[in-house]
Amino acid sequence: MSTIYQKRRAAVARTLKAAGGGVALLPTAPELPRNRDSDFPYRHDSYFYYLTGFDEPQSWLVIEANGRSTLFCRPKDLEREIWDGFRMGPKAAPAALGVDAAFSVDLLGDKMPTLLENQNALWFPFATHKGLETQVDGWLAKVRARIRLGAQCPQSQHDLCKLLDEMRLFKDAHEMAILRRAGKISAGAHVRAMQTSAAMLRAGAKDGLKGGLREYHLEAELLHEFRRHGSQFPAYTSIVAAGANACVLHYRAGNAPLLPGELCLIDAGCEWGGYASDITRTFPVDGKFTPAQRVLYEIVLEAQYAAVKVTRPGKRFTDPHDAATRVLAQGMLDTGLLSKAKHGKVDDVLASGAYRQFYMHRTGHWMGMDVHDCGDYTEPGSKPREEKDAQGQTVMRKPSRILRPGMVTTVEPGIYVRPAKGVPKEFWNIGIRIEDDALVTAKGCELLTRGVPVEADEIEALMRG
Ligand code: GLY
Ligand code: MN
Ligand code: MN
Repeated sequence: MSTIYQKRRAAVARTLKAAGGGVALLPTAPELPRNRDSDFPYRHDSYFYYLTGFDEPQSWLVIEANGRSTLFCRPKDLEREIWDGFRMGPKAAPAALGVDAAFSVDLLGDKMPTLLENQNALWFPFATHKGLETQVDGWLAKVRARIRLGAQCPQSQHDLCKLLDEMRLFKDAHEMAILRRAGKISAGAHVRAMQTSAAMLRAGAKDGLKGGLREYHLEAELLHEFRRHGSQFPAYTSIVAAGANACVLHYRAGNAPLLPGELCLIDAGCEWGGYASDITRTFPVDGKFTPAQRVLYEIVLEAQYAAVKVTRPGKRFTDPHDAATRVLAQGMLDTGLLSKAKHGKVDDVLASGAYRQFYMHRTGHWMGMDVHDCGDYTEPGSKPREEKDAQGQTVMRKPSRILRPGMVTTVEPGIYVRPAKGVPKEFWNIGIRIEDDALVTAKGCELLTRGVPVEADEIEALMRG
């Protein structure tokens, strides 16, 4: 029985064959030094893992149109294994990974020209691995040097990413199960952070909290919960933003105090089994929304519900954004964030883009192995047409992607109010985002991350408990 990785490799081989034959090559990610003698935690390349399930560094995969696959990996080395740990080694790889052949990565330079010789076309990931193009040129030069002996050099080069992006955009049952698990762990971490926030404030100095509750305390709770469930890493750097920090979109968890009466925005998700999750919740630090906070919170929540409703097959990727933006724009007019006298009605606000003062990002992105996952956001095969971009300039764009079962997108509307003239003071420095991960199903979508409450009343109840 072939593994999911063998099936995926076979699908790549079929595409190569249909395109007239050829060979695909794919390295994994490099190890990256952090500072002297210390590397960043190693993370494999997502494409490579997608086709192998193998997470050792210094590995390469070659797939030929006839279906044959070859792996290059680190050789067994007792000395290195004593220091750095187990290596699978090429001898064990065919049985463990289902590849047809495996060699030491030390032989890559010798074997690659032979693997490229007499192949019609070469597929490799463009502009993703530093120096890869130069390496490829070196191997092709070696093939070309043998032309007088009858060797053929590949006639064309293609971006392997494009082919794999389309495969990765549609999650199979195996991937869905992993994404559900990652979403569940992350939801639990958000619950833990909310509960800890209220509990630590209640316990206060009695519990040794002399410096007060700070952003890093909640980040520690998130990391603890991720790791104790076996998550290998956070899927991205966690945002834990106290009060006004929530209006900085790429804020990181820092050491700012979490003060009663303020909100805390947490955007954090774990990576589990090589797949991401991406959740944002915004909650009152002390467990009770103020009236101004609640008004804006309800608008963002309504926007999210509107977006989720149109996250279903047949809709376009941009439909959830448009639905959310309409609700947010109406809310901005209703609350006086945008003056009706100056900005008119909701359609005027949408046309002018005035809402961007308080909502400046998109409502979603593909999610999978990478938190901002690969996949075309426009419909393949469609013709470009005239559209207005964010600055009102006319640009030629293909129509947005049609949503289909198996795609996973986030749904993440928000409102961020920086102090400004004409903006009601009660809303100043409030930043709110609500984000969940949606798997498009046959009839609608499944929210993978709703294990953490989203209704204001539910959040208050959880934090009281
Ligand atoms: N956490 C990254 C994002 O929401 O896009
Ligand atoms: Mn996101
Ligand atoms: Mn996020």
